[in-house]
Amino acid sequence: MTNWGILGCGKIAGKFANDLLLTEGVNLYAVASRDKEKAANFGNTYKAIKSYGSYEEMAQDPDIDIVYIATPHMFHKENTLLCLSNNKAVLCEKAFAMNLEEVEEMIAFAKAKTIFLMEALWTHFLPHYKFVLDKVASGTLGEIQSLKADFGFNSPFDTTSRLYNKSLGGGSLLDVGIYPVFAALSLLGYTEDIEAKATLGPTGVDHNCSMHLRYAQNVEVQLFSAIDEETPTRCHIVLEKGEIIINSRFHEPSSVTLTENCVTETLEFSTPKDVNGYHYEILHCQEMLALRKTESDVMTFSKSKELIMMLDKIRAQIGLSY
Ligand SMILES: NC(=O)c1ccc[n+]([C@@H]2O[C@H](COP(=O)([O-])OP(=O)(O)OC[C@H]3O[C@@H](n4cnc5c(N)ncnc54)[C@H](OP(=O)(O)O)[C@@H]3O)[C@@H](O)[C@H]2O)c1
Repeated sequence: MTNWGILGCGKIAGKFANDLLLTEGVNLYAVASRDKEKAANFGNTYKAIKSYGSYEEMAQDPDIDIVYIATPHMFHKENTLLCLSNNKAVLCEKAFAMNLEEVEEMIAFAKAKTIFLMEALWTHFLPHYKFVLDKVASGTLGEIQSLKADFGFNSPFDTTSRLYNKSLGGGSLLDVGIYPVFAALSLLGYTEDIEAKATLGPTGVDHNCSMHLRYAQNVEVQLFSAIDEETPTRCHIVLEKGEIIINSRFHEPSSVTLTENCVTETLEFSTPKDVNGYHYEILHCQEMLALRKTESDVMTFSKSKELIMMLDKIRAQIGLSY
């Protein structure tokens, strides 16, 4: 059994805890909140053995193997370094950190300590998404000609919400835009040839962001993210000899509509009952720890660096600095 700790008892922490409980070989050992009572309640709900009223206290618990960090992006670096310095492996939510400099510091520290660290880009571990990556890589549909991906939801403007709060790293790009950008990165690779436009709101964060990426092969890539508007949240890939649509919402367990040899079919990818889909990345971490790996062979350090470099580039274009 691997003993997991959860740092930060917010929304996503609850969904992740739900999946931890339903994953074999995993023990939700401890949870930590800045508030003791909140930690105790969260711990009771998800049957954690221990609950802590501070992140520092939990990080020092010698019985924890790995900590899942579920705080706003602005604190990812600080929380990651805290856990690594206490010799805990870390699975840290996306966006991994606020910029490349922070990501590099986290990675360098994990390497120096020879401790496992990974960005929790869960989409990369989902069966439907793996199917698409394999299908494109197999070459049977030829080269990608265009890619369109979006992720938008309508969250009413609220200055107290993490999403609209600049000091918490708010805005659409780092929260949801990261998924369309990841789609481009994972399917076509890294590019610096990006043009982006955004609508910045009164709190200085992007309410929505349009991105146009260019690749050497003249592939057309259009990406969009929003926190003030619901969008299809699909990923549409046109290839020389076919088409792939990752149906809504493409970043979470979903179906894939494939057109090949003029035949269109929709493939369903079932997920075990009651899980949200986080168990795939949990199982991957378990495997990496069992193999004593310090870096994921799927969500590698170079992928996390390229992802944040693309996000940095987009932020520079839309004039968003934190
Ligand atoms: N993978 C996914 O599907 C997914 C989905 C949603 C979000 N996320 C990512 O997960 C992270 C957390 O998102 P969330 O939606 O769970 O946010 P949330 O509900 O606001 O929870 C964040 C938690 O962080 C802790 N925290 C520490 N310092 C804080 C501060 N100064 N202000 C507010 N909270 C603070 C709080 O926990 P305590 O009060 O217990 O200390 C809070 O409950 C973000 O990086 C986001 O991008 C990932």
